[in-house]
Amino acid sequence: MSEEAGWSVHLRPSLAELRRYEVSLAQPRARLHANECPEPWPAAVMVEMAGLLQEVELGRYPDLAPERLRRLFAARYGVGPERVVLGDGSDEVIAMLLTALAGPTGRPSRVLVPDPSFVMYEHSARALGLEVHRVPLTAALELDPGAMRAALAALAPALCFLARPNNPTSSLWDAGLILALVAEFPATVFVIDEAYIAYAPGASLWASDRPANFVLMGTLSKVGLAALRVGFCVAHPALVDALERVRHPYNVPGPSAVLAEAALTRFHAAQEGMIARTIAGRSRLLEIMKKRLPGAFVFPAFANLVVVRLDPPAAAPRLTAALAERGILIKDLSRLTRLAGCVRVSVGTAAELDLLDEALGALAPGVLG
Ligand SMILES: Cc1ncc(COP(=O)(O)O)c(C=O)c1O
Repeated sequence: MSEEAGWSVHLRPSLAELRRYEVSLAQPRARLHANECPEPWPAAVMVEMAGLLQEVELGRYPDLAPERLRRLFAARYGVGPERVVLGDGSDEVIAMLLTALAGPTGRPSRVLVPDPSFVMYEHSARALGLEVHRVPLTAALELDPGAMRAALAALAPALCFLARPNNPTSSLWDAGLILALVAEFPATVFVIDEAYIAYAPGASLWASDRPANFVLMGTLSKVGLAALRVGFCVAHPALVDALERVRHPYNVPGPSAVLAEAALTRFHAAQEGMIARTIAGRSRLLEIMKKRLPGAFVFPAFANLVVVRLDPPAAAPRLTAALAERGILIKDLSRLTRLAGCVRVSVGTAAELDLLDEALGALAPGVLG
């Protein structure tokens, strides 16, 4: 009998079908695979941030839920701090929502996700043994109104996650449709994930009178602070109460809270500059892709990432591998629903985009053919 044969009978069966989340550990010349804000913080800001860290008492627990940070997010959305829940990244907020809304014992909740979308919605739901249903996007990578309505009506899911803009497609789904679904299906909690909203200025779906089944989720990870792991949601007070019951105490590390507060206040202008440069970088990335891949279809981009469909479809893994050999990491999406032949390229710094431009210009003829 193998050593683990005894205890392993207790493993959740749903884990067997899950894969570990893996990312490349290589030190690439261009990181165009992770949807981060590529722009570095100005050197003077980094010096001030280092000074702030000296004030953190490392031997003490941080705040249970950093109140100043909660207030800053609350002020941004025009609500009281009691409407805000903080997470160790929005990944943790996703897990809290799923845990709180998992359903009564023996009747696991259903979760609806458009397909393709951010993988952690499905991954975390499956890890908890919840039932996940996918609704394919249209060929234009938009939400499918008929299929969404049919699935919501037939399944009555506890949760429906809608990323806007969406990852990995960079599409900005129809606002009117989403608000209509939220109104038509009040027994489903709609999580509107605005992780990338900084790259679609003015497009937020938030308004302070949204109904009780509307949750706004956000993160600092895509705006220059991925290392901090700070995510949040704004929800109805009754749902906040449920989330606060499952939230681990001290889930936002003290150094992260201090740096996040500073970024949202005194360094806000610097951050806005980084975002504006990234939006300009996106325009350049779109131009590079159109110029260097003339036979390809470049989808409209609303996040800090661009999706390109290559022809023939087999060129997607070939291009990804050829660029990786040159130290440029992009993501091959070709196995995902609706994304045959597609690659995803995140916006890089000017230097990273130069490298990409040059590498695409120097591709061996067989890579794209
Ligand atoms: C749509 C979307 N939501 C949430 C996240 C997770 O963000 P965080 O770093 O806050 O956990 C990502 C990360 O890629 C994402 O693409």
